[in-house]
Amino acid sequence: MTAFAFSTVANIISEPGAAARLGEIVRERFPAAHRVLLVTDGGFLRTGLTELPRLDLQRHGFTVTLYADVVADPPEHVVMEAVRFAQQHDTDLVIGIGGGSSMDVAKLIAILATGDQQLGDIYGIDKVSGARLPLVQVPTTAGTGSEVTNIAIVTTGATTKMGVVASQLYADMAILDATLTLGLPPLVTAATGIDAMVHAIEAYTSKHKKNRVSDNLARQALELLSKNLVPACENGSRLEVRQAMLLGACLAGQAFSNAPVAAVHALAYPVGGIFHVPHGLSNSLVLPHVLRFNAPEAASLYAELAAIAVPRASGSDEARTEALISGMQQTARTTGIHTTLQQVGIAESDLDRLADDAMLQTRLLGNNPRTLTRADARAIYAAAL
Ligand SMILES: NC(=O)c1ccc[n+]([C@@H]2O[C@H](COP(=O)([O-])OP(=O)(O)OC[C@H]3O[C@@H](n4cnc5c(N)ncnc54)[C@H](O)[C@@H]3O)[C@@H](O)[C@H]2O)c1
Ligand SMILES: [Fe+2]
Repeated sequence: MTAFAFSTVANIISEPGAAARLGEIVRERFPAAHRVLLVTDGGFLRTGLTELPRLDLQRHGFTVTLYADVVADPPEHVVMEAVRFAQQHDTDLVIGIGGGSSMDVAKLIAILATGDQQLGDIYGIDKVSGARLPLVQVPTTAGTGSEVTNIAIVTTGATTKMGVVASQLYADMAILDATLTLGLPPLVTAATGIDAMVHAIEAYTSKHKKNRVSDNLARQALELLSKNLVPACENGSRLEVRQAMLLGACLAGQAFSNAPVAAVHALAYPVGGIFHVPHGLSNSLVLPHVLRFNAPEAASLYAELAAIAVPRASGSDEARTEALISGMQQTARTTGIHTTLQQVGIAESDLDRLADDAMLQTRLLGNNPRTLTRADARAIYAAAL
Protein backbone atom coordinates (compact mmCIF):
# COMPACT_ATOMS: atom_id res chain seq x y z
CA MET A 1 0.00 0.00 0.00
CA THR A 2 1.32 3.47 -0.89
CA ALA A 3 2.41 5.63 2.04
CA PHE A 4 0.39 8.76 2.65
CA ALA A 5 -0.22 11.55 5.16
CA PHE A 6 -3.59 13.06 6.01
CA SER A 7 -4.37 16.25 7.93
CA THR A 8 -7.57 18.07 8.75
CA VAL A 9 -9.31 20.32 11.27
CA ALA A 10 -9.44 18.60 14.66
CA ASN A 11 -12.88 19.75 15.69
CA ILE A 12 -15.88 19.71 13.35
CA ILE A 13 -19.42 20.37 14.55
CA SER A 14 -22.25 19.56 12.12
CA GLU A 15 -25.42 20.80 13.83
CA PRO A 16 -28.30 22.88 12.49
CA GLY A 17 -28.67 25.86 14.84
CA ALA A 18 -25.11 25.68 16.20
CA ALA A 19 -24.33 29.28 15.14
CA ALA A 20 -26.91 30.58 17.63
CA ARG A 21 -24.80 29.08 20.42
CA LEU A 22 -21.46 30.12 18.91
CA GLY A 23 -20.42 31.90 22.12
CA GLU A 24 -21.03 28.80 24.23
CA ILE A 25 -19.10 26.57 21.79
CA VAL A 26 -16.17 28.94 21.41
CA ARG A 27 -15.98 29.74 25.16
CA GLU A 28 -15.71 26.05 25.99
CA ARG A 29 -12.88 25.56 23.49
CA PHE A 30 -11.04 28.86 24.20
CA PRO A 31 -11.59 29.74 27.87
CA ALA A 32 -8.89 32.45 27.86
CA ALA A 33 -9.90 34.41 24.72
CA HIS A 34 -11.50 37.88 25.06
CA ARG A 35 -11.61 39.91 21.86
CA VAL A 36 -13.24 38.21 18.88
CA LEU A 37 -13.10 39.48 15.32
CA LEU A 38 -16.03 38.25 13.21
CA VAL A 39 -15.00 38.32 9.54
CA THR A 40 -17.65 38.44 6.81
CA ASP A 41 -18.69 40.23 3.62
CA GLY A 42 -21.38 42.83 2.93
CA GLY A 43 -23.67 40.34 1.19
CA PHE A 44 -23.82 37.97 4.14
CA LEU A 45 -24.01 40.84 6.64
CA ARG A 46 -27.21 42.05 4.91
CA THR A 47 -28.92 38.71 5.66
CA GLY A 48 -28.85 39.67 9.36
CA LEU A 49 -27.57 36.18 10.19
CA THR A 50 -24.49 37.45 12.01
CA GLU A 51 -26.72 38.83 14.81
CA LEU A 52 -27.50 35.66 16.80
CA PRO A 53 -23.89 34.44 16.79
CA ARG A 54 -22.68 37.94 17.76
CA LEU A 55 -25.13 38.19 20.67
CA ASP A 56 -24.25 34.72 21.94
CA LEU A 57 -20.54 35.56 21.82
CA GLN A 58 -21.25 38.68 23.91
CA ARG A 59 -23.37 36.65 26.31
CA HIS A 60 -20.36 34.44 26.91
CA GLY A 61 -18.09 37.33 27.78
CA PHE A 62 -16.42 38.12 24.45
CA THR A 63 -15.92 41.64 23.13
CA VAL A 64 -17.00 41.30 19.50
CA THR A 65 -15.82 43.42 16.60
CA LEU A 66 -17.20 42.94 13.11
CA TYR A 67 -15.13 43.23 9.94
CA ALA A 68 -17.65 43.07 7.07
CA ASP A 69 -15.61 44.57 4.22
CA VAL A 70 -14.51 41.31 2.61
CA VAL A 71 -15.39 41.15 -1.09
CA ALA A 72 -15.68 38.10 -3.35
CA ASP A 73 -12.29 36.91 -4.61
CA PRO A 74 -10.57 39.14 -2.03
CA PRO A 75 -7.77 41.39 -3.33
CA GLU A 76 -4.55 41.99 -1.39
CA HIS A 77 -5.53 45.45 -0.12
CA VAL A 78 -8.65 43.98 1.56
CA VAL A 79 -6.54 41.37 3.34
CA MET A 80 -4.08 44.01 4.51
CA GLU A 81 -6.83 46.37 5.71
CA ALA A 82 -8.46 43.49 7.58
CA VAL A 83 -5.17 42.59 9.26
CA ARG A 84 -4.63 46.23 10.36
CA PHE A 85 -8.21 46.32 11.67
CA ALA A 86 -7.59 43.16 13.74
CA GLN A 87 -4.38 44.61 15.14
CA GLN A 88 -6.08 47.92 16.04
CA HIS A 89 -8.71 45.97 17.99
CA ASP A 90 -6.16 43.75 19.70
CA THR A 91 -8.00 40.67 18.40
CA ASP A 92 -7.14 37.41 20.13
CA LEU A 93 -9.56 35.07 18.27
CA VAL A 94 -10.70 35.17 14.64
CA ILE A 95 -14.01 33.76 13.38
CA GLY A 96 -14.69 33.57 9.63
CA ILE A 97 -18.42 33.50 8.89
CA GLY A 98 -19.26 33.53 5.18
CA GLY A 99 -18.28 31.89 1.93
CA GLY A 100 -14.78 30.96 0.81
CA SER A 101 -13.84 34.63 0.45
CA SER A 102 -14.57 35.50 4.10
CA MET A 103 -13.06 32.29 5.45
CA ASP A 104 -9.87 32.79 3.40
CA VAL A 105 -9.49 36.34 4.72
CA ALA A 106 -10.09 35.06 8.27
CA LYS A 107 -7.24 32.55 7.81
CA LEU A 108 -4.86 35.25 6.64
CA ILE A 109 -5.82 37.60 9.50
CA ALA A 110 -5.12 34.82 12.02
CA ILE A 111 -1.65 34.35 10.50
CA LEU A 112 -0.66 37.97 9.80
CA ALA A 113 -2.16 39.81 12.80
CA THR A 114 0.71 38.55 14.97
CA GLY A 115 2.89 40.92 12.90
CA ASP A 116 5.70 38.43 12.26
CA GLN A 117 5.20 38.16 8.48
CA GLN A 118 3.80 40.20 5.58
CA LEU A 119 1.33 38.88 3.01
CA GLY A 120 3.99 38.95 0.28
CA ASP A 121 6.20 36.62 2.35
CA ILE A 122 3.74 33.76 2.62
CA TYR A 123 2.52 33.03 -0.95
CA GLY A 124 3.37 29.49 -2.02
CA ILE A 125 3.69 26.29 -0.06
CA ASP A 126 4.79 26.16 3.59
CA LYS A 127 6.05 29.75 3.79
CA VAL A 128 4.19 30.51 7.04
CA SER A 129 6.37 30.47 10.14
CA GLY A 130 5.23 30.44 13.73
CA ALA A 131 1.83 30.25 15.32
CA ARG A 132 -1.40 32.05 14.43
CA LEU A 133 -4.32 33.39 16.46
CA PRO A 134 -7.07 30.89 17.38
CA LEU A 135 -9.31 30.41 14.32
CA VAL A 136 -12.91 29.19 13.98
CA GLN A 137 -14.65 28.86 10.59
CA VAL A 138 -18.40 28.96 9.94
CA PRO A 139 -19.24 28.41 6.23
CA THR A 140 -22.36 30.01 4.75
CA THR A 141 -22.00 28.51 1.27
CA ALA A 142 -21.76 24.76 0.61
CA GLY A 143 -18.88 24.99 -1.82
CA THR A 144 -15.21 25.72 -1.26
CA GLY A 145 -14.73 23.62 1.89
CA SER A 146 -12.32 26.36 2.98
CA GLU A 147 -13.39 25.70 6.60
CA VAL A 148 -11.29 22.51 6.48
CA THR A 149 -8.59 23.29 3.91
CA ASN A 150 -5.05 24.58 4.41
CA ILE A 151 -5.38 27.05 1.53
CA ALA A 152 -6.26 30.73 1.19
CA ILE A 153 -6.59 32.39 -2.21
CA VAL A 154 -5.91 36.09 -2.83
CA THR A 155 -6.48 38.18 -5.96
CA THR A 156 -3.10 39.75 -6.70
CA GLY A 157 -3.75 41.73 -9.89
CA ALA A 158 -6.47 42.52 -12.40
CA THR A 159 -6.55 38.92 -13.58
CA THR A 160 -4.25 36.96 -11.27
CA LYS A 161 -4.62 35.02 -8.02
CA MET A 162 -2.07 33.51 -5.67
CA GLY A 163 -2.44 30.90 -2.97
CA VAL A 164 -1.08 30.49 0.53
CA VAL A 165 -0.78 26.82 1.47
CA ALA A 166 0.39 25.93 4.98
CA SER A 167 -0.63 23.68 7.85
CA GLN A 168 -1.30 26.77 10.03
CA LEU A 169 -4.27 27.52 7.77
CA TYR A 170 -6.16 24.56 9.18
CA ALA A 171 -8.64 26.15 11.57
CA ASP A 172 -9.03 25.01 15.17
CA MET A 173 -12.72 24.38 14.64
CA ALA A 174 -15.30 24.28 11.82
CA ILE A 175 -19.01 24.70 12.54
CA LEU A 176 -21.55 23.56 9.92
CA ASP A 177 -24.96 25.12 10.51
CA ALA A 178 -27.43 24.99 7.62
CA THR A 179 -29.70 27.65 9.13
CA LEU A 180 -27.10 30.08 7.72
CA THR A 181 -27.49 28.77 4.15
CA LEU A 182 -31.30 28.66 3.87
CA GLY A 183 -31.42 31.96 1.96
CA LEU A 184 -28.52 31.28 -0.40
CA PRO A 185 -29.89 32.15 -3.88
CA PRO A 186 -30.45 29.14 -6.22
CA LEU A 187 -27.79 30.12 -8.77
CA VAL A 188 -25.16 30.59 -6.02
CA THR A 189 -26.28 27.30 -4.44
CA ALA A 190 -25.81 25.57 -7.80
CA ALA A 191 -22.41 27.04 -8.68
CA THR A 192 -20.90 26.59 -5.22
CA GLY A 193 -22.37 23.07 -4.95
CA ILE A 194 -20.85 22.05 -8.29
CA ASP A 195 -17.50 23.45 -7.07
CA ALA A 196 -17.77 21.04 -4.13
CA MET A 197 -18.63 18.14 -6.46
CA VAL A 198 -15.56 18.99 -8.55
CA HIS A 199 -13.43 18.89 -5.38
CA ALA A 200 -14.66 15.34 -4.74
CA ILE A 201 -14.18 14.21 -8.36
CA GLU A 202 -10.70 15.72 -8.73
CA ALA A 203 -9.53 14.44 -5.31
CA TYR A 204 -10.63 10.93 -6.31
CA THR A 205 -8.49 11.03 -9.48
CA SER A 206 -5.61 13.11 -8.06
CA LYS A 207 -2.41 11.67 -9.50
CA HIS A 208 0.06 11.63 -6.60
CA LYS A 209 -1.68 12.03 -3.25
CA LYS A 210 -4.92 10.09 -3.68
CA ASN A 211 -5.27 7.81 -0.66
CA ARG A 212 -7.81 5.64 1.17
CA VAL A 213 -8.96 8.39 3.51
CA SER A 214 -9.40 11.05 0.83
CA ASP A 215 -11.13 8.45 -1.39
CA ASN A 216 -13.68 7.65 1.29
CA LEU A 217 -14.32 11.32 1.93
CA ALA A 218 -14.69 12.05 -1.79
CA ARG A 219 -17.18 9.21 -2.24
CA GLN A 220 -19.27 10.26 0.77
CA ALA A 221 -19.14 13.87 -0.38
CA LEU A 222 -20.29 13.03 -3.90
CA GLU A 223 -23.15 10.94 -2.57
CA LEU A 224 -24.44 13.77 -0.36
CA LEU A 225 -23.90 16.46 -3.00
CA SER A 226 -25.38 14.58 -5.96
CA LYS A 227 -28.52 13.68 -3.99
CA ASN A 228 -29.10 17.12 -2.56
CA LEU A 229 -27.86 19.74 -5.00
CA VAL A 230 -30.92 19.97 -7.25
CA PRO A 231 -33.35 19.78 -4.27
CA ALA A 232 -31.36 22.58 -2.56
CA CYS A 233 -31.74 24.74 -5.68
CA GLU A 234 -35.43 23.95 -6.14
CA ASN A 235 -36.45 24.40 -2.52
CA GLY A 236 -33.69 26.03 -0.53
CA SER A 237 -35.65 26.22 2.70
CA ARG A 238 -35.33 22.49 3.52
CA LEU A 239 -32.95 22.38 6.46
CA GLU A 240 -31.92 18.72 6.12
CA VAL A 241 -31.10 19.20 2.44
CA ARG A 242 -29.00 22.27 3.22
CA GLN A 243 -27.21 20.47 6.09
CA ALA A 244 -26.38 17.57 3.75
CA MET A 245 -24.94 20.05 1.23
CA LEU A 246 -22.78 21.70 3.91
CA LEU A 247 -21.49 18.35 5.12
CA GLY A 248 -20.85 17.19 1.55
CA ALA A 249 -18.85 20.34 0.80
CA CYS A 250 -16.90 19.91 4.04
CA LEU A 251 -16.03 16.26 3.30
CA ALA A 252 -14.99 17.21 -0.24
CA GLY A 253 -12.81 19.97 1.26
CA GLN A 254 -11.09 17.45 3.52
CA ALA A 255 -10.51 15.19 0.51
CA PHE A 256 -8.96 17.79 -1.80
CA SER A 257 -6.93 19.42 0.93
CA ASN A 258 -5.00 16.13 1.03
CA ALA A 259 -5.43 14.85 -2.56
CA PRO A 260 -5.31 18.11 -4.52
CA VAL A 261 -7.49 19.25 -7.41
CA ALA A 262 -6.23 19.25 -10.99
CA ALA A 263 -7.06 20.34 -14.56
CA VAL A 264 -10.69 21.36 -13.97
CA HIS A 265 -9.50 23.95 -11.47
CA ALA A 266 -6.43 24.82 -13.60
CA LEU A 267 -8.65 25.64 -16.58
CA ALA A 268 -11.30 27.32 -14.44
CA TYR A 269 -8.88 29.82 -12.87
CA PRO A 270 -8.25 31.89 -16.05
CA VAL A 271 -12.01 31.98 -16.75
CA GLY A 272 -12.60 33.40 -13.27
CA GLY A 273 -9.53 35.64 -13.28
CA ILE A 274 -9.91 37.29 -16.68
CA PHE A 275 -13.70 37.34 -17.04
CA HIS A 276 -14.68 37.64 -13.36
CA VAL A 277 -16.85 34.55 -13.44
CA PRO A 278 -17.53 33.13 -9.93
CA HIS A 279 -15.26 30.23 -8.94
CA GLY A 280 -17.95 27.50 -8.93
CA LEU A 281 -19.41 28.56 -12.27
CA SER A 282 -15.98 28.62 -13.96
CA ASN A 283 -15.42 25.06 -12.77
CA SER A 284 -18.81 23.94 -13.99
CA LEU A 285 -18.21 25.41 -17.47
CA VAL A 286 -15.04 23.42 -18.15
CA LEU A 287 -15.85 20.30 -16.09
CA PRO A 288 -17.50 18.02 -18.73
CA HIS A 289 -14.83 18.78 -21.31
CA VAL A 290 -11.92 18.12 -18.93
CA LEU A 291 -13.50 14.84 -17.80
CA ARG A 292 -13.89 13.72 -21.43
CA PHE A 293 -10.25 14.60 -22.04
CA ASN A 294 -9.17 12.66 -18.92
CA ALA A 295 -11.33 9.61 -19.65
CA PRO A 296 -8.62 7.58 -21.46
CA GLU A 297 -6.57 7.59 -18.21
CA ALA A 298 -9.27 7.87 -15.55
CA ALA A 299 -12.33 6.01 -16.86
CA SER A 300 -12.16 3.24 -14.24
CA LEU A 301 -12.18 5.81 -11.41
CA TYR A 302 -14.89 7.92 -13.03
CA ALA A 303 -16.94 4.72 -13.41
CA GLU A 304 -16.66 4.16 -9.64
CA LEU A 305 -17.92 7.69 -9.06
CA ALA A 306 -20.72 7.21 -11.59
CA ALA A 307 -22.00 4.33 -9.45
CA ILE A 308 -22.47 6.91 -6.67
CA ALA A 309 -23.65 9.98 -8.57
CA VAL A 310 -25.66 8.31 -11.36
CA PRO A 311 -26.77 4.95 -9.91
CA ARG A 312 -28.66 4.01 -13.10
CA ALA A 313 -25.39 4.08 -15.09
CA SER A 314 -24.35 0.73 -16.53
CA GLY A 315 -22.05 -0.85 -19.09
CA SER A 316 -18.33 -0.40 -19.65
CA ASP A 317 -16.15 2.01 -17.70
CA GLU A 318 -16.30 4.35 -20.69
CA ALA A 319 -20.11 4.21 -20.78
CA ARG A 320 -20.32 4.91 -17.02
CA THR A 321 -17.85 7.77 -17.42
CA GLU A 322 -20.06 9.27 -20.11
CA ALA A 323 -23.05 8.85 -17.76
CA LEU A 324 -21.17 10.75 -15.02
CA ILE A 325 -20.35 13.55 -17.46
CA SER A 326 -23.87 13.85 -18.85
CA GLY A 327 -25.27 13.65 -15.31
CA MET A 328 -23.15 16.66 -14.32
CA GLN A 329 -24.23 18.52 -17.48
CA GLN A 330 -27.86 17.73 -16.73
CA THR A 331 -27.46 19.03 -13.17
CA ALA A 332 -26.05 22.31 -14.48
CA ARG A 333 -28.88 22.69 -17.00
CA THR A 334 -31.58 21.87 -14.43
CA THR A 335 -30.30 24.52 -12.04
CA GLY A 336 -30.27 27.16 -14.79
CA ILE A 337 -26.64 28.25 -14.48
CA HIS A 338 -24.70 29.11 -17.63
CA THR A 339 -23.29 26.10 -19.46
CA THR A 340 -21.13 27.62 -22.21
CA LEU A 341 -18.18 30.01 -22.21
CA GLN A 342 -19.99 32.24 -24.70
CA GLN A 343 -22.78 32.81 -22.18
CA VAL A 344 -20.26 34.42 -19.82
CA GLY A 345 -18.87 36.69 -22.56
CA ILE A 346 -15.96 34.61 -23.85
CA ALA A 347 -15.24 34.52 -27.62
CA GLU A 348 -13.15 32.31 -29.88
CA SER A 349 -10.50 35.06 -29.95
CA ASP A 350 -10.02 34.69 -26.15
CA LEU A 351 -9.12 31.01 -26.24
CA ASP A 352 -5.37 31.45 -26.83
CA ARG A 353 -5.04 33.71 -23.82
CA LEU A 354 -7.06 31.31 -21.68
CA ALA A 355 -4.88 28.38 -22.78
CA ASP A 356 -1.67 30.34 -22.08
CA ASP A 357 -2.87 31.23 -18.57
CA ALA A 358 -4.08 27.71 -17.80
CA MET A 359 -0.61 26.34 -18.55
CA LEU A 360 0.78 28.55 -15.75
CA GLN A 361 -1.17 26.46 -13.21
CA THR A 362 1.64 23.90 -13.10
CA ARG A 363 0.96 22.85 -9.49
CA LEU A 364 -2.63 21.84 -10.36
CA LEU A 365 -1.84 20.37 -13.79
CA GLY A 366 0.73 18.08 -12.16
CA ASN A 367 -2.11 16.40 -10.24
CA ASN A 368 -4.13 15.63 -13.38
CA PRO A 369 -4.55 11.97 -14.29
CA ARG A 370 -3.67 12.71 -17.94
CA THR A 371 -0.81 14.95 -19.12
CA LEU A 372 -2.28 18.07 -20.64
CA THR A 373 -0.50 20.24 -23.26
CA ARG A 374 -1.32 23.78 -24.30
CA ALA A 375 -2.98 22.43 -27.45
CA ASP A 376 -5.13 20.15 -25.25
CA ALA A 377 -6.11 23.11 -23.04
CA ARG A 378 -7.11 25.15 -26.09
CA ALA A 379 -9.13 22.25 -27.50
CA ILE A 380 -10.95 21.85 -24.16
CA TYR A 381 -11.82 25.57 -24.11
CA ALA A 382 -13.00 25.32 -27.73
CA ALA A 383 -15.26 22.42 -26.77
CA ALA A 384 -16.63 24.47 -23.84
CA LEU A 385 -17.29 27.56 -25.99
N1 LIG B 1 -9.56 28.10 0.64
C1 LIG B 1 -9.98 27.20 -0.20
O1 LIG B 1 -9.80 26.01 0.01
C2 LIG B 1 -10.69 27.64 -1.43
C3 LIG B 1 -11.09 26.70 -2.37
C4 LIG B 1 -11.77 27.14 -3.49
C5 LIG B 1 -12.04 28.49 -3.66
N2 LIG B 1 -11.63 29.40 -2.74
C6 LIG B 1 -11.91 30.84 -2.84
O2 LIG B 1 -13.16 31.08 -2.22
C7 LIG B 1 -13.81 32.17 -2.87
C8 LIG B 1 -15.18 31.76 -3.36
O3 LIG B 1 -15.97 31.40 -2.27
P1 LIG B 1 -17.55 31.10 -2.40
O4 LIG B 1 -17.78 30.39 -3.66
O5 LIG B 1 -17.97 30.46 -1.13
O6 LIG B 1 -18.18 32.54 -2.56
P2 LIG B 1 -17.98 33.94 -1.79
O7 LIG B 1 -17.46 33.75 -0.42
O8 LIG B 1 -17.17 34.81 -2.70
O9 LIG B 1 -19.48 34.44 -1.71
C9 LIG B 1 -20.25 34.60 -2.90
C10 LIG B 1 -21.46 35.46 -2.65
O10 LIG B 1 -22.42 34.76 -1.85
C11 LIG B 1 -22.91 35.59 -0.81
N3 LIG B 1 -23.31 34.73 0.31
C12 LIG B 1 -22.50 33.91 1.03
N4 LIG B 1 -23.24 33.20 1.91
C13 LIG B 1 -24.52 33.59 1.76
C14 LIG B 1 -25.75 33.20 2.39
N5 LIG B 1 -25.78 32.24 3.30
N6 LIG B 1 -26.88 33.81 2.00
C15 LIG B 1 -26.86 34.74 1.02
N7 LIG B 1 -25.74 35.13 0.37
C16 LIG B 1 -24.58 34.56 0.74
C17 LIG B 1 -21.77 36.52 -0.50
O11 LIG B 1 -22.20 37.71 0.08
C18 LIG B 1 -21.16 36.75 -1.88
O12 LIG B 1 -21.81 37.80 -2.53
C19 LIG B 1 -12.89 32.61 -3.99
O13 LIG B 1 -12.07 33.67 -3.54
C20 LIG B 1 -12.06 31.37 -4.25
O14 LIG B 1 -10.81 31.67 -4.84
C21 LIG B 1 -10.98 28.98 -1.62
FE1 LIG C 1 -12.90 24.91 -6.02
